Amino acid sequence: MPNILALSGSLRIKSFNTMLLHAVVEVAPEGTAIEIGSIKDIPLYNADVDAASGPPPAVRELKDKIAATDGLLLASPEYNHSIPGVFKNAIDWLSRPATDIGRVFGGCPVGVIGATPGRGGTNHGQEAWMPVLRALQMLPFFGAHVGIAGAGKVFDEQGRLQDAAIRALVEKYIAGFAGFSSRHGRRQA
Ligand code: FNR
Repeated sequence: MPNILALSGSLRIKSFNTMLLHAVVEVAPEGTAIEIGSIKDIPLYNADVDAASGPPPAVRELKDKIAATDGLLLASPEYNHSIPGVFKNAIDWLSRPATDIGRVFGGCPVGVIGATPGRGGTNHGQEAWMPVLRALQMLPFFGAHVGIAGAGKVFDEQGRLQDAAIRALVEKYIAGFAGFSSRHGRRQA
C-alpha cells in the first residue's frame, strides 16, 4: 500500500483543513501510511535568496519528502475563491529550481480537498489549483470529491469529524486516492 504525504494550507491552530487531514488519517484503509507534513517553516519566496543560495533547509527537506512519496494530498482552504497565499508561496519555493520540478513533482499523484465554514465547499479554490498542478507536471486524482461546506457544524470542539455522511465521503475519497497512488505512484512507474 502507498505512503502519502499530506499538507494543510492553513497555519491556524484550529484549522478546519488540518482537522480534515486528521479525519483522513482516521478513516484511511489499513496499510496506507499518511504523514501530515507542514509548510509552517517555509519563508516568503525571495528571488534574491533563491539566486544567492537556493531554497532554504525547510524547503529542501519538504522537497525530498515529496519526491519520495507515492501521493501528495493537499487540504486547501479557499481564499477569495482561490489558493491561500501561504500555500501558494510554499509551493512556489518547493518548485525551485525549476529544473527540479520533474524529480519532486513530476508524475506524482495529487489530491486536493478542502473545508470552509462558508457554503461553497472550496470548489472555486480546488479549481484554482488545477493550472498549478499542471505546471508541476502532477497527476491529479478526480475519482472522488471532498469539499466540506459549513465546516463549523461538521467538526466538534476537539476537531473530530462528527457528521457520519461526510465521514463516509472522506473514507471513500482516501480509499480511492490510496488506490490511485498505488497504481500510478512513481515507484510503480
Ligand atoms: C476567507 N474565507 C473564504 N471562504 C470561502 O469559502 N471562500 C472564500 O473565497 C473565502 N475567502 C477568504 C479570504 C480570506 C483572506 C480569509 C482569511 C478567509 C474563509 C475561510 O474559508 C476560513 O477562514 C477557513 O476557516 C480557512 O480555513 P482553515 O484555516 O479553517 O483551515
